[in-house]
Amino acid sequence: DWTMDNFIDMQIEKIRAQVGSEKVLLALSGGVDSSVVGVLLNKAIGDQLTCIFVDHGLLRKGEAEQVMDMLGGKFGLNIIKVDAKDRFLSKLEGVSDPEQKRKIIGNEFIRVFDDEAAKLEGIRWLAQGTLYTDIIESGTDTAQTIKSHHNVGGLPEDMQFQLIEPLNTLFKDEVRALGLQMGMTENVVWRQPFPGPGLGIRVLGEVTEEKLEIVRESDAILREEIQKAGLERDIWQYFTVLPGIRSVGVMGDGRTYDYTIGIRAITSIDGMTADFARIDWDLLQKISVRIVNEVAHVNRVVYDITSKPPATVEWE
Ligand code: XMP
Repeated sequence: DWTMDNFIDMQIEKIRAQVGSEKVLLALSGGVDSSVVGVLLNKAIGDQLTCIFVDHGLLRKGEAEQVMDMLGGKFGLNIIKVDAKDRFLSKLEGVSDPEQKRKIIGNEFIRVFDDEAAKLEGIRWLAQGTLYTDIIESGTDTAQTIKSHHNVGGLPEDMQFQLIEPLNTLFKDEVRALGLQMGMTENVVWRQPFPGPGLGIRVLGEVTEEKLEIVRESDAILREEIQKAGLERDIWQYFTVLPGIRSVGVMGDGRTYDYTIGIRAITSIDGMTADFARIDWDLLQKISVRIVNEVAHVNRVVYDITSKPPATVEWE
């Protein structure tokens, strides 16, 4: 009979039988699925697994460190971290169209991954965190036709790997249970969805380091306050965006002319439809005050009260 313990043992046996003494490569994104695959494979084959973690410079505050500490440190995964910020930012220079930004980030991701993988020798297998729902939904994801979703883990076309997808019979809640069973912490297995293009689509229009910093710092404040209020699981996704408009404000006896930050927080089952989260006014005020006080060049905070449809979750 089916239990999580049985599942883990069976998968470990299956993975060992499949790969023998050969080497496996995994693209770690920091998300739930690839992290769980990494920990499971590490349990099964240890050093035969190499992970590549591309830091594209579009991650949230503290995210890269958390991945390295948790998966590299605590679980001892063999991770190659690639600092590719400059490559991504220079490719994004002067580009403001959302779909073009997605394409650039997706293509560059594959190139960076490719470059790293080419340095490794004798790798036959590529592991992916594909879920059961990814398989049954493929081709029917209407969001996909509206925005070209780039997910970390897309297969470089000219690479000749065999695929291992140990989660492809599981639903998301089962993947979380599996992660917890293997000793992963709640904050990792309950991590909110984060798009592949990262903060690159939360700075609207052209992406610059200055703008990334504003969105990253304001997002960190929002996450901290949502966590302190114990709302992480009630709100499906919550983040800040930088629309790039500036408006007049007043600080001390001076006039300011600075950026506006938008807060997006939604409740949803699967991201296909969404409702804006009814966050308490006092909490919103606290977040707003902190963002304006602590993040340079921000003098106004607005809350997005549109549902999906007609809006989308992300602003780009
Ligand atoms: P939208 O904005 O389409 O978002 O309502 C629905 C869900 O998809 C995520 N999203 C993305 N995920 N690459 C991704 O991997 C993308 O380009 C992308 N765009 C949106 C979004 O965060 C939400 O969870």
